[in-house]
Amino acid sequence: LFEALAPQPADALLALIGAFRNDPRTGKIDVGVGVYRDLEGRTPVMRAVKEAERRLLEEQESKGYLGPEGDAGFFEALKPIIFGATDHADRLTGLQTPGGTGALRLAAELIARLNPQARILLGEPTWPNHHPILKAAGLELAPYEHFDVPSQRLNFAQALETFNQAKRGDVALLHGCCHNPVGADFDAAQWQALAVVMRDRGILPLIDLAYQGLGRGLDEDAQGVRIVLDVVGEGLLAYSCDKNFGLYRERVGALYALSRTADTAAIVQSNLLSLARANWSMPPDHGAAVVRVILTDPALTEDWKAELTEMRERIRSVRDLLAAADPALAPLKGQQGMFSTLPLTPQQVARLREERGIYMPPSGRINIAGLTPDAVPAFVDALASLR
Ligand code: LMR
Repeated sequence: LFEALAPQPADALLALIGAFRNDPRTGKIDVGVGVYRDLEGRTPVMRAVKEAERRLLEEQESKGYLGPEGDAGFFEALKPIIFGATDHADRLTGLQTPGGTGALRLAAELIARLNPQARILLGEPTWPNHHPILKAAGLELAPYEHFDVPSQRLNFAQALETFNQAKRGDVALLHGCCHNPVGADFDAAQWQALAVVMRDRGILPLIDLAYQGLGRGLDEDAQGVRIVLDVVGEGLLAYSCDKNFGLYRERVGALYALSRTADTAAIVQSNLLSLARANWSMPPDHGAAVVRVILTDPALTEDWKAELTEMRERIRSVRDLLAAADPALAPLKGQQGMFSTLPLTPQQVARLREERGIYMPPSGRINIAGLTPDAVPAFVDALASLR
């Protein structure tokens, strides 16, 4: 019976993990999948995570089910990190999800249930997994240009025009910070302008916040989220702890929904719980428990923030090195977070892999955190050899 299935291509990004591992060359460089790497090229378990895990091992007394909402303490403890001093009280509901991907998938299904005709306004290029996640929920995508790769310019005017022509009930998928794959974020004035159009035209914001703390700082990276929710008064936020807690394979995320009233919020919550039950029933526990332990202990929270700052500064220093080494890479200095996208063809990307052992997806996206300072000269030289 299975013969009726058509084979599917491997995910272009995830296929790089195995290909890089199997490459015997010394001096190979992995700027593929988005994981943080330190000066030695390792992806360490963060200090606060190790300590939280030790405490959990000693103190956790039950593995009994928690319910479809997952770890409520985790969900609450993250709120001030994301929303700052603003207490949205009973208007803010949601639940723990398996990674940011789970949050996006649940958001997409909620939107499809709410308004099957909703179009998702999607700035391109975007994280390649956004498309299948949204389409799997049956949603129509309405792409527009967010960023021009050859000139490395953010196209804010295009975003504004697209929003100005949207229909009531459309949804705008926005990267909260550290845009994946181009590193180009809106500034506060641009967030404000987009938020006003969303409010006036009845566009629902869906913000993907997967890199908080890896761009300009924890509060700075949440600025867009806070402006949009404040102005629009409702919206969805898909959150990931994969990168800023280094918990990648634990799959730790959350979906927050801000409604106009507490009564509506209760209805939204009942929908989210039923959708979660139908998808994964209950999310995995461990990673969320680790985040809860860290964020409910002031000393561990401080240590987590300190290590996150070290990570952010290391990424920033690699951006500075690249920009200083080659004028063609100067725009990378002003971009945020782990990713930038270079104006390379898939053929050039293949040449870099074959001739120099440099791994990146065919789109030309690079994970800045994959470069150690020692590797920068070889990387810059390889790029120059393509010109
Ligand atoms: C990435 O964009 O590299 C990460 O978010 C990993 C993934 O799941 O694609």
